[in-house]
Amino acid sequence: MSRATSEPTKVAIIGAGDIFPAYAQGLAAFGNLQLVAVADARASASEARAAEFGIVAQTPAELLAGDAEIIINLTPPDAHLAVGRQVLQAGKHLYTEKPLAASFDDGQRLMEAAAASGRRIGCAPDTFLGGAGQAARALVDSGRLGRIVAGQASMMERGPDDWHPNPAFFYRPGAGPLMDMGVYYLTQLVQLLGPVRRVSGMAHTSWAPRTVPRGPRQGQSIAVETPTHVVAGLEFEAGAFVTLSTSFDVWKHKSSHIELYGEQGSVVLPDPNQFGGALSVCETDGEWQDLAPRAFTGRLRGLGVAEMAAALRAGQPHRASGELALHVLEIMDATLRAAAKASPVSLSTRCERPAPLPLGFEKQIACEVAA
Ligand SMILES: NC(=O)c1ccc[n+]([C@@H]2O[C@H](COP(=O)([O-])OP(=O)(O)OC[C@H]3O[C@@H](n4cnc5c(N)ncnc54)[C@H](O)[C@@H]3O)[C@@H](O)[C@H]2O)c1
Repeated sequence: MSRATSEPTKVAIIGAGDIFPAYAQGLAAFGNLQLVAVADARASASEARAAEFGIVAQTPAELLAGDAEIIINLTPPDAHLAVGRQVLQAGKHLYTEKPLAASFDDGQRLMEAAAASGRRIGCAPDTFLGGAGQAARALVDSGRLGRIVAGQASMMERGPDDWHPNPAFFYRPGAGPLMDMGVYYLTQLVQLLGPVRRVSGMAHTSWAPRTVPRGPRQGQSIAVETPTHVVAGLEFEAGAFVTLSTSFDVWKHKSSHIELYGEQGSVVLPDPNQFGGALSVCETDGEWQDLAPRAFTGRLRGLGVAEMAAALRAGQPHRASGELALHVLEIMDATLRAAAKASPVSLSTRCERPAPLPLGFEKQIACEVAA
């Protein structure tokens, strides 16, 4: 495609559900993107979103034949492979919500489709590109903490039953607490520590079927087809051992989101499902000190799309890549397999750490919400 580099990249969205408004609002923060259309299997949903955000509603077939360069897939995980393949086969670049696909096998098939079409895959989460993740990355790379030897992370909550309009998919393969939420923690850990070599797992389901505990659907029953409490033991290639607890079965706890322990000190990271937040750092057994996040701290869903668009224009690799997402998907899939057979699983994929964002990157993507 030959276009002036100053012209925004046209993007379109398939999937007009719960997360759509966050994308429509987030994408508008980036001057290098233009959201042009939305499609959904339910025409009423895409028409309502199109009217709300002043864009065009199309059928999925019309959208695939349109002039968007990157198509963003916001369908549920069990539709990621089918919809993603259609996007790639239509000659478009794909940016998909997480996880890359509902299983590692499906993720591999999606990557094969990208290779066959010569198009790129980008994948959420992109929160590791936010100010907190990038501050943590600069800290780890500075060597101030020494080699990271261990860590622990936890994402534990009572599940999305009470707030999501359609919570059933959270309890099907491709979701559950590990694939739906642990994916943010694992992507952050891999960008900081590099690839994982081997995983152990423990998983169980506290309630099947599950009774919605509160909210508008209180008392309703949800079928549970994937474990709702999963603990992963992660052995990183670089040597660190990290445990990750994920749960939809816990009302409250006091654990940190992510803590990393280095030879010379420790760091506590904020919620990796957000772009910003302060970090706490200490050297050896000294006092904790706050470390401010870098740029990109707001509600900036779509930062990964903006970065991918800039990378496409520059002919460079993008950071929230299919390779990173496939490795993270294998970690999650392997954890569930390790739990099922009560024995560790070695991984077959690896990925390079995505390069840190350069300082001042917000100017490249014309983002005014910089800090
Ligand atoms: N809801 C959130 O807060 C949230 C946050 C972060 C990421 N995500 C991710 O975003 C994705 C979508 O989540 P959601 O909460 O918006 O789901 P949702 O169920 O609210 O919406 C999904 C939409 O996709 C449409 N759809 C399903 N299959 C389709 C197909 N084959 N072709 C076209 N349209 C199809 C549905 O009609 C529906 O409108 C998931 O991967 C989820 O993990 C959601």
